[in-house]
Amino acid sequence: MTTSSTPAPFPDYGFQQVLSQRAARDRAGSVEQISRDPDTRRLSLLSAAGWQLDASRHLLQPDSLQSLLEFAHASGVLDEREALFDGSTLNTTEDRPVLHTLLRSNNSHKAVASEFAAVQSTLARMDTWVTGIHSGDHPGYSGQRITDIVNIGIGGSDLGPRMVVEALKPYHRAECRVHFCANVDPDDLHSLLPGLSPETTLFIICSKTLRTEETLYNARRARQWLLDAGVPQSALYKHFLAVSTNLQAAAEFGIPADNILPMWDWVGGRYSLWSAIGWSIAFAIGMDGFRELLAGAREMDAHFRDAPAEQNMPLRLSLLEIWYVNFLHAQVHAVIPYYQHLTRLPAFLQQLSMESNGKRVNHLGESVSYATAPVLWGDVGTNGQHSFHQLLHQGTLLCPVDFIFVTDTGSSVDPEGKRRLLANGLSQARALMVGRNEADSRASLVARGIAADKAAALAPHLVIPGNRPCSTLSTPVLSPAALGALLALYEHKTFFSGRFWQINSFDQWGVELGKAMGAEIYAALNGQIASFDPSTDALIESGDA
Ligand code: F6P
Repeated sequence: MTTSSTPAPFPDYGFQQVLSQRAARDRAGSVEQISRDPDTRRLSLLSAAGWQLDASRHLLQPDSLQSLLEFAHASGVLDEREALFDGSTLNTTEDRPVLHTLLRSNNSHKAVASEFAAVQSTLARMDTWVTGIHSGDHPGYSGQRITDIVNIGIGGSDLGPRMVVEALKPYHRAECRVHFCANVDPDDLHSLLPGLSPETTLFIICSKTLRTEETLYNARRARQWLLDAGVPQSALYKHFLAVSTNLQAAAEFGIPADNILPMWDWVGGRYSLWSAIGWSIAFAIGMDGFRELLAGAREMDAHFRDAPAEQNMPLRLSLLEIWYVNFLHAQVHAVIPYYQHLTRLPAFLQQLSMESNGKRVNHLGESVSYATAPVLWGDVGTNGQHSFHQLLHQGTLLCPVDFIFVTDTGSSVDPEGKRRLLANGLSQARALMVGRNEADSRASLVARGIAADKAAALAPHLVIPGNRPCSTLSTPVLSPAALGALLALYEHKTFFSGRFWQINSFDQWGVELGKAMGAEIYAALNGQIASFDPSTDALIESGDA
């Protein structure tokens, strides 16, 4: 039995030995050979909700994949999927169900019928507001149409909506522009305000709890900006909407009930873009576009729920994560979209993966002896090629990559540019796998006119070992539905990994301590006598308080 001084072992369901042996073998194998194996190809091309996954370029032989799939069956995680739909208390430490799938559902489990009704009526209210703002029926205090929406929120109340609004730029409506302000650093809001008019700007205060320092501070500053510009106190309500579970705090801020949409405890912040927290998305792309986003996620939900293990895309991504993290000891994972408008995707996925699964104790509160979430990072291609791809090709870390491609180059306004982009992405995935040996490196130098002895000395620096794993995810066009499906795919991958690790993917206690300390240090910066540690004290001393 595990005691508090003995960390819990990896929950292996009897597969530890076989998986460890295969991992040692596959680590020494060839990604290219594995990828050419007909069994690998048969087993590694998956499709779901408009997305194709090619998971063939990995340090994972077909028999290892079979063992991983057996491990998944033995673990019971497939049976646990239903808990994301039926209102079970999955978030045990906060005693809450986890129902973000309900936000995009067409119907509900009977146990959560009232929650479903609340979602539907909230969607209808969102719709009314979006239509009213777009048509000019809800003008600002002076009667002018609202032209700019500013989402004030942070974490899940920012990252998802901001990323989606950016990703769906080609679908933006002409009626209004959408902006985001998250940081308590006043430079964030102050860099937005000069481009805005108080008469035509609407702020959405987006906060599940409405207790978040950054959001409350920025909301107060926004209100002051409006007042300073002459907006009468009595008309402030024309410039504020709010989304929160804390309806009372929104009302206390002075926002009338009609302007407040609810959120619910059963939606985690990082899973909330599908709720009214995504209001800014609906303003940007219209309510039809928002519903299309939900529909894409819904299609992925159905795949997650119904597809057999062998074809289940979120399960495959999760098993690859378990393979690399727990058997090949990778500590990092890169996501590289070859699509400029997905520039915020890695930041969104960081919260999704690292806040969900960056945990050190299991469900029972026992510390774990195995690794959990890796560091997730990335940026759009081709930009990263001129930066961190050096490490991917020649560094010493094992870093599996997810490449994301949008393949229908012909449908773009600049097919040539899109073909160049795709060629770059495909070549990076291939170069990671095939690399370049010393003889070829030397020959390429000689071909450039470099003397043979110098070429021999330089060649080791040009060697690219290759054999580095990646997955590719591709879709023809990044429509709202395709984006919704992609995000739901990563949500469900995160769910599976959390279940394999037997951790609670839906709480985030780790972020609380720094917040509490921040309040004490803020008081000290304002002159209150307090002593912390020499470094903190010295930095407080150097402050301007
Ligand atoms: O500090 C972390 C966190 O609680 C996230 O989980 C959440 O998305 C973010 O803060 C913002 O919280 P809220 O929406 O309540 O302002």
